[in-house]
Amino acid sequence: MKALILSGGKGTRLRPLTYTGAKQLVPVANKPILWYGIEGIVAAGITDIGIVISPETGDEVRSRTGNGDQFGATISYICQDQPLGLAHAVKISQDFLRDSPFIMFLGDNLIEHELKSFLDRFIEKQLDALILLRPVENPSAFGVAKVDADGRVLALVEKPKDPPSNLALVGIYYFSPYIHEAIAQIQPSARGELEITDAIQKLIDLDRPVDSRVIEGWWLDTGKKDDLLSANQIVLDAQVVTDIRGELDKATKIDGRVRIGAGSTVKNSLIRGPVAIGDNCRIENCFIGPYSSIADGVTLLDTDIEHSVILRDATISGIKQRIVDSLIGQRARLGEAVPRPKALRFMIGDDCQVELV
Ligand code: TTP
Repeated sequence: MKALILSGGKGTRLRPLTYTGAKQLVPVANKPILWYGIEGIVAAGITDIGIVISPETGDEVRSRTGNGDQFGATISYICQDQPLGLAHAVKISQDFLRDSPFIMFLGDNLIEHELKSFLDRFIEKQLDALILLRPVENPSAFGVAKVDADGRVLALVEKPKDPPSNLALVGIYYFSPYIHEAIAQIQPSARGELEITDAIQKLIDLDRPVDSRVIEGWWLDTGKKDDLLSANQIVLDAQVVTDIRGELDKATKIDGRVRIGAGSTVKNSLIRGPVAIGDNCRIENCFIGPYSSIADGVTLLDTDIEHSVILRDATISGIKQRIVDSLIGQRARLGEAVPRPKALRFMIGDDCQVELV
């Protein structure tokens, strides 16, 4: 059994961050999203992992994630020259996959459920595909499955106007090598991509066994800002335990579960968990409220922030209003020059969003 993690793509919905970085490396609770997937796959006993990368962000994914040693796995990287679809990513990975069954995992997805029980079912029932489904309120925004009472998949429809069920396809799939034959028989869709839903539909049309399981617990597709903030909230809630390695002065108060990395200094601040603060941060005269993740090397001075994710080496100083629901990119600088500014002065990259609420 192998695993294929898809970490290429365009990431248009997370611009501008994805102009300069891979969306799969954006941190959730200060750990790249991609790494949760790798850890889940290794926990299911699969250690031979291929990661599909793009020419634009592949080097960053490779240098941060490495050869797999830190996860107890062997990682191979496969470059997809253009993001021509999920089934295209499988197609170009055939040299890696050979005739092995595999889990395909979208690198921007997170699930609470473990992967092993589904793997056991996939093997035991000798399936050609096992897909995971999750009930959602707005099925029209997803790939949707029509299933019978036993979970056998009867049909898949991509973003249907009139959904046959409320069961959306989660970005985790189990495939036998027969999927390559199905992919060889499909054509690009109207949006020019080789769709994995079309390949699975082809398996169904060929009367191959395609089964589904409905997952419990949370499923997060972190492709958009609000989903990423929800993922950050859920993972901080579930995983943060108090662990203070940095230095706090006497005027600083910690309330709830807070993680602070080595080399960080905190002065005259109130931190109310769950909060994760990385290494070598400088925090002075701040309130840091629940569900905030502050990455390594961040400076926060006279700042009030909650329910936000701040990436590496960003600086925020002297903003008097509370910052909420925000995602701040690497090395970004936000600050007010005077206590009551008469004007706002910006230098903001393409596709940024600034909301004065
Ligand atoms: P998507 O989020 O569906 O696509 P995207 O990354 O292009 O994002 P957006 O819609 O915001 O433009 O992709 C799901 C995952 O699969 C994600 O981790 C990127 C990856 N992917 C590839 O590796 N190759 C591809 O050709 C595509 C389409 C996606």
